[in-house]
Amino acid sequence: MGRVSLAGVSKTYGDPGQTVTALTNVSFELADGEFCAILGHSGCGKTTLLNMVAGFETPSAGIIRVEDQPVSGPGWERTMVFQDYALFPWATVRQNVAFGLEMKKLPADARAAIVDHHLDLVELTGFADRYPDQLSGGMRQRVAIARALAVSPRVLLMDEPFGALDDQTRRYMQEELVRIWRREPKTVMLVTHSIDEAILLADKIVVLSSRPGRIKQVLSVDLERPRDEDSPDYLALKRYLRGLIHAETAA
Ligand SMILES: Nc1ncnc2c1ncn2[C@@H]1O[C@H](COP(=O)(O)OP(=O)(O)O)[C@@H](O)[C@H]1O
Ligand SMILES: [Mg+2]
Repeated sequence: MGRVSLAGVSKTYGDPGQTVTALTNVSFELADGEFCAILGHSGCGKTTLLNMVAGFETPSAGIIRVEDQPVSGPGWERTMVFQDYALFPWATVRQNVAFGLEMKKLPADARAAIVDHHLDLVELTGFADRYPDQLSGGMRQRVAIARALAVSPRVLLMDEPFGALDDQTRRYMQEELVRIWRREPKTVMLVTHSIDEAILLADKIVVLSSRPGRIKQVLSVDLERPRDEDSPDYLALKRYLRGLIHAETAA
């Protein structure tokens, strides 16, 4: 349902004469239901990559496919969770989660059932009539996740979704995301510059090099869940990734 492939994807911004190459020749594939972390330094093209999969940006070269369909613009089968939540401040939690379903013109009763289900999934049932500014950061991000999942996407895109949260809330939300993903499996592409976040969450880690971003390495994470940060295998992978990333800082 949510197979993703990128083949020779590059992105150059700007007009001839003053261009910025953000990504060069990026190719990888994700299986349906796979959880992928895109890991790299600030400025290496992570957001660009995600925006192209979302259809917000067009590749300068190469092709992105979801289930063999070339991506040519935004679509409900790919939804995004942003770092700053991007909730509608004038709308309640329930209205925020219902937004895409209204756009899809679902009848009110079907809409209500889907919204209730997703509020339950993110454990916000008691907060349906609150407004975003009445919620903590972690709760806002749960609303954003519910809104993104409510339209039944094949691929969930997340751009540093927990970057604005304090450490403790971030850890809790990472566990919550894994719980939600295991309950309702979905292909996930999550952008992060945190090595720990990548290892805690992902089946596959795509490491990008710095400027312009290219694939440094694609690794499988063969650690059982929940991941034990003190296990020798976790620490060995962390050390290895730190080496890869540090090589980029030095370069
Ligand atoms: N709309 C844009 N126009 C011009 N340059 C851009 C644009 N968006 C990003 N860039 C440039 O592309 C590079 C990658 O940016 P970005 O994808 O945001 O990286 P990351 O998310 O990894 O921090 C940076 O050099 C950035 O300045
Ligand atoms: Mg970014």
